Amino acid sequence: MLSLRLPRKKCPVNMSAELVPTRPERPTAMNPSLVSRRDVQRRALALALMPWLSAGAQAQLLQGPALGAVPRWQVDPFSLGVASGQPQSGSVVLWTRLRISEPDAGLKAQSLEVVCEVFADASLRQPLRQWRVQTDANRGHSVHVVAHGLKPGRPYWYRFVCGNAISPVGRARTSPAADEAVARLRMGLASCQHYEQGFFAAHREMAQTDLDLVLFVGDYIYESSNPKFMLRKHEGGVPKLLDEYRERHAQYKTDADLQACHAAHTWVMTWDDHEVVNDYANDLDRNFTDPQTFLRRRAAAYQAYFEHMPLRLGPDPVNASQMRIHDRMPWGKLADLWTLDCRQYRDHQACLDPNRGGGRVVVGCDALNDSSRSMLGAAQEQWFYEGLTHSARRWKLVAQSTQMSSSGVNTPLGRSAFTDGWDGYPQARARLLRTVAQAGVQNVLMLGGDVHMNVAAQLRVQSNDDRTPVVGGENVTTSVTSRGLGEKLLAQIRDNNPDILHARSDERGFTLLDVRPDRVTADFRTTPNPAQANGVFRSQGQWVIRSGVPGVQKA
Ligand SMILES: [Fe+2]
Repeated sequence: MLSLRLPRKKCPVNMSAELVPTRPERPTAMNPSLVSRRDVQRRALALALMPWLSAGAQAQLLQGPALGAVPRWQVDPFSLGVASGQPQSGSVVLWTRLRISEPDAGLKAQSLEVVCEVFADASLRQPLRQWRVQTDANRGHSVHVVAHGLKPGRPYWYRFVCGNAISPVGRARTSPAADEAVARLRMGLASCQHYEQGFFAAHREMAQTDLDLVLFVGDYIYESSNPKFMLRKHEGGVPKLLDEYRERHAQYKTDADLQACHAAHTWVMTWDDHEVVNDYANDLDRNFTDPQTFLRRRAAAYQAYFEHMPLRLGPDPVNASQMRIHDRMPWGKLADLWTLDCRQYRDHQACLDPNRGGGRVVVGCDALNDSSRSMLGAAQEQWFYEGLTHSARRWKLVAQSTQMSSSGVNTPLGRSAFTDGWDGYPQARARLLRTVAQAGVQNVLMLGGDVHMNVAAQLRVQSNDDRTPVVGGENVTTSVTSRGLGEKLLAQIRDNNPDILHARSDERGFTLLDVRPDRVTADFRTTPNPAQANGVFRSQGQWVIRSGVPGVQKA
C-alpha cells in the first residue's frame, strides 16, 4: 500500500421548548430608542435583501419594538437573525437565538420568554398563531418552535418578540400534501462556506432567487484557518468547547447575506466534517484522540450546531454525542428528498497513516475491499434502502455530504483512492448502487458537496465501466467560498474518470435545481474565486436528468 501526498481536499436534548398557543395579537406601538444606529443600518441592509417583504412590514421593523415591555434590552438580542427548516405538510421549524451583549449581561442567567408570531401575509396584517416559549443559558438562549397547524404547500411569515425587542421577519414554507400532484420543486443546493476564504455572495443570490428550499449539505462552519487564503478572519482559535463552537456559529450567523438567505427560505440540511473537525470519522479524529475525549468535543459541536439551526431534533437526551440528522421529506407526489449523515456512523478511514489520521490518497489499500465497511452505518443504510426501494414518488433525490462518483487516478502502481470520500468506501457505494439496480429504482439523483467543485456524473455499480448500466445521476455543487483543487490534478481526475461529464473547481457558488415531473435541471450558478461581496453570478453549465432515462445529460 502506497500513500501519495497529493494536495487533495478538500476539503441536548431536544430543545423545542414548551409550546403554548395563544390568541394572536396585533403588532403594538414601537419604541425607537432601543435600536441603535448600527442596528438600523444592519437591518436596512438585511431588509434590502428581502424583496419579498412588504414595504409596510419593513417600515414597521425599522422603527423598533414595543414600549414598556419586559425585559428591556439595551442591545438588540436578535442580531443572529431568524431561520426556518425541516418543513412538513402541516408544520415547519422556526428558529432564532438571543445573543446577549454586555450591557444586558444581567439577563444571561434568567429564563426568558420569547413569543413567536406567524402571519399569513408579507405585510403582517393577518396574524395566525402565537407560541410562547422559554429559553435559557442551557440551550444557548436558542429558540426552536415547531409551528404546527399550518396548511400544506404555502408560505408563511414569522418573527419573534422578547420584551421590547423584535426580530427581523422570516418567510417559511410548508411542504405540499404527500398525495398532491406537484408541478415543481426549486432548490438552491449549497455547501462549504469557509468564512475566511470569501464572502457569502451565493447566499445573497439565493435570497433573491425564487426557491422553495435551500438544501445545504455540509461544512456550514469551519473550525480551522488557512493563512494563505484569508479575506476576513475568524474570531478566536480552533473551537473545542461548547462556548467556542457557539461563538464560531454566531460569527457566521452575523453575516448579512447568510441571514438574508435563512430569512428568505426554508432550509433542509445535513452536515459534513467541519461542523466538528476536519476528517473526523465517527469517534475518531485525525490526531487519534482518545474516543471518549473526542466524543465530548463532538457533543459540544453537535449541541452548538443544533442551537443555531432550524432543526426538529437536538442531541440525544441520553447520549449527547449522538444526534440524528438524517431524514426523508416527501414533496407531494413529485419527489422524496433524503438527507443522509455520512460522518456520525461511518467506519474509520481505511489504511490510516499512523502519524496523521484522516483522509489521504492511497494506492494498494486492501482494506478498501472489505465489504463490511460502511459510510452510513448499518442502521441508517437499512432505513435508507427500505425507503428508497419502496418510494412511489417520481424523483428520488438523495442529499449527502460528498461526491459519490469515483475520482481516482490510474498510477503505475494501481488506481488511487481518496480515503475520506466515497472512493474510500467503495464496497458501501457499490452496495448502495446495486440496491438501486436490483430493485429497479428509477429516477435516482445524488446531490452532494464537500469537494469544492461542480460535478455532473453518471453512477454505475462499477464506476467508469461502460459495460455496466448507468443506474443514476449525480450533481455535486461547488463551494460557497472554500477554495477548490488545482486544475492540474482536476484534469487528471477528468481524464481517468469517463463517468465524470463535468468537473470544475475554479469557481464558487451554488446549484439551482429545478425539479419537474419530466426532468430535473441542475444549473451551476457561479462567480470567480475568491467569492467577492459583490460577486456576479452566471451559469457555468446546465445538466438534465430526464424521467425514465438513468444518468445526466448536457442541457
Ligand atoms: Fe468543505
